[in-house]
Amino acid sequence: MARPWRGVIEEYREWLPFDDDVKAQTLGEGGTPLVHSAWLSQVVRGDVYVKVEGQNPTGSFKDRGMTTAISAAVAQGAKAVVCASTGNTSASMTAYAARAGLTPIVLVPHGRIAAGKMAQAVMHGADIIQVRGNFDDCLDLSRGLAKEYPVALVNSVNPIRIEGQKTASFEIADVLGQAPDLHVLPVGNAGNITAYWKGFVEYEAAGVTTSRPRIWGFQAAGAAPIVLGRVVPEPDTVATAIRIGNPASWTFAENARDESGGRIDMVQDEQILAAQRELGAREGIFVEPASATGVAGLLAAAAAGEIEPGLTITVTVTGHGLKDIDTAMAHRGDLVDAVIDVDVDAAAETAGLR
Ligand code: F0G
Repeated sequence: MARPWRGVIEEYREWLPFDDDVKAQTLGEGGTPLVHSAWLSQVVRGDVYVKVEGQNPTGSFKDRGMTTAISAAVAQGAKAVVCASTGNTSASMTAYAARAGLTPIVLVPHGRIAAGKMAQAVMHGADIIQVRGNFDDCLDLSRGLAKEYPVALVNSVNPIRIEGQKTASFEIADVLGQAPDLHVLPVGNAGNITAYWKGFVEYEAAGVTTSRPRIWGFQAAGAAPIVLGRVVPEPDTVATAIRIGNPASWTFAENARDESGGRIDMVQDEQILAAQRELGAREGIFVEPASATGVAGLLAAAAAGEIEPGLTITVTVTGHGLKDIDTAMAHRGDLVDAVIDVDVDAAAETAGLR
């Protein structure tokens, strides 16, 4: 029998800055599916694979960076951890903190967190502080708390988060047997694009792969500071996870774009929601709105004729659709509204079978 997946620290320990005696605080994160998409492959006239990060233990890619951040915090003797979040970081942080016996403190923008993510932090026993402000304000607060009080900051400004998240690139290259030609992903606070690029660069430098992909990042049009080249004071998008106006890893994201010969562009909320729906209906992959931003960008680029044929392309979808069912149901079809009696004919009629 093949051995079970051990979580990203044990699977990739030699690539991570941990001494051998650092204990991994893990929920078995990573090892997520790389799913071939016939639909997207046809659209781009190449081969497209979707990296389904919603399959991580708390339903998003954040678990990769949280296993490393919480393991480091424990090793350094921390008793409490703090983060700012649009929801997924807090869901992940509180789960790993609970496991490690650390006190989690969470700062989130008031009223702007998807219900599923709030429920996760609640169930993991966190102190959740809602802030009258946006994510960027919450991050400032978290940094202030970590500076003045004995709490460890576990946002992606903490480099150990990036180390964990870069393992997604390793997995992609391990499965494909090479680096893709192009990697596409959503951009919010810009930690993940930084991490993917670091992972691809390290694998090439070590000779595991012989090339690096171009990196294409996509922001939501209402929260696209990197595309616009200026801070967006009041970011707004249906993709609440990436409602960020002043990304902490802005410069790193620009580096990833420029060194890889890639791009960072933006898509409208309608394009994000359409991509989310199509991914669910065509491929059976249900993601939250922010997670569909890369797919939306890929579709827009294909429609504009910007993708040469024959490429191997990977797209990361970052978080599970069940985290934000309110947005999904707000755009539901008519079928949900039909209520019938217990009657086969009525069911057939309603389903359009006759
Ligand atoms: N997709 C999802 C589902 C996210 O939750 C995030 C970020 C991103 C994409 C963007 O990744 O910030 O590394 O560029 N969520 C953070 C949070 C901000 O607090 O959960 P990024």
